[in-house]
Amino acid sequence: MNALMIKGLLFAAILIGATIYVVNSMNIDLSDPINMIAMIGAVAIAVLTVGVSIKYINQMKTDTAGGELADESWDGIGEYKNEVPSGWAYSWLGTAIWAMWYMISGYPVNAFSQIGQWNEEVKAYNTKFEEMHKTADAATLRQMGESIFLVQCAPCHGTTGDGLSGKAQDFTSRMTEAQVLAVIEKGSNQLGYPMGAMPPMMATGQDAKDIAKYIAGGMKGEQPASFAACASCHGADGKGMAGMSPNLTGYDETLVGNVVKNGKKGALGRMPAYHDRMTPVQVKALSAYIQTLKGE
Ligand code: HEC
Ligand code: HEC
Repeated sequence: MNALMIKGLLFAAILIGATIYVVNSMNIDLSDPINMIAMIGAVAIAVLTVGVSIKYINQMKTDTAGGELADESWDGIGEYKNEVPSGWAYSWLGTAIWAMWYMISGYPVNAFSQIGQWNEEVKAYNTKFEEMHKTADAATLRQMGESIFLVQCAPCHGTTGDGLSGKAQDFTSRMTEAQVLAVIEKGSNQLGYPMGAMPPMMATGQDAKDIAKYIAGGMKGEQPASFAACASCHGADGKGMAGMSPNLTGYDETLVGNVVKNGKKGALGRMPAYHDRMTPVQVKALSAYIQTLKGE
């Protein structure tokens, strides 16, 4: 027996020993025939691995390559012009055909998918939900809105909607002076109103401060003359011309719907976009509920 054979047998013994150790430590019942067959298979794989390795190692030691050498030689290393082995060629062709089938008509393009099924079920359920609550009365909507709010919005906006000390929008009033000033200075273009973006610097200096104070105060008392700069788009009463621009006195359905859909990044921080995860009825419910939070 040569040294290679001894090393091989030793390696096989280690593999088999390790297999037995793992099987024992996992408390696998070998009186179960399936487990026993698997065990025999594992031992056979270990023996085969070692046997095949020894065969090729020996071959590498003694074999010399045959065939016709190509003309090129790279630093003394040549290349044989042998035929591609037919088994390899057929496997390659088979794989190419299979890949084509897989891309064009196989899984997953046309096949069942759990995500697809989930989306379809959610869509069907949402349609049913929308249909069922199409004519929901105000009280039902507010109640529904409260439930959604407590789960989806309260973590940031607070259970009472007070915005957790300035961490998110405080729904018990409209905007703070600082928030309005920030919009006047930087403009606004993320709420998705038909009018589009609001340009920056629509007012400056003391005018801006007066306007901000007036809006933050709920637009009560005497209107500063400089508010005229805003009235052209937001209306003289600040209620936002027929949904074209935001209502500066409250949270109407358009505003809540747009913000929930698109998200918003403003003076307070970032509000995530819900895209289409909220159905129209749910948005209506949320805005009905949010409107009850603003103390008049
Ligand atoms: C050219 C039209 C236009 C003018 C003038 C204008 N706005 Fe706007 N404003 C808009 C539009 C449109 C939006 C919504 C933009 C968006 O999609 O974010 C907006 C948004 C706002 C918002 C943000 C509301 C929110 O809930 O985030 C505030 C506050 C605001 N405007 C205040 C003002 C004030 C104060 C003035 C006057 C100094 C003013 N606007 C002048 C068109 C205008
Ligand atoms: C991850 C925290 C977070 C969650 C969750 C969240 N919001 Fe907000 N929301 C914010 C922040 C922060 C702002 C203020 C953005 C700014 O600085 O203008 C805000 C602002 C708003 C505004 C006011 C926008 C304006 O310009 O007047 C509305 C309306 C709103 N959120 C509705 C909701 C609703 C409805 C939900 C639940 C479906 C919700 N938010 C969930 C963080 C959040």
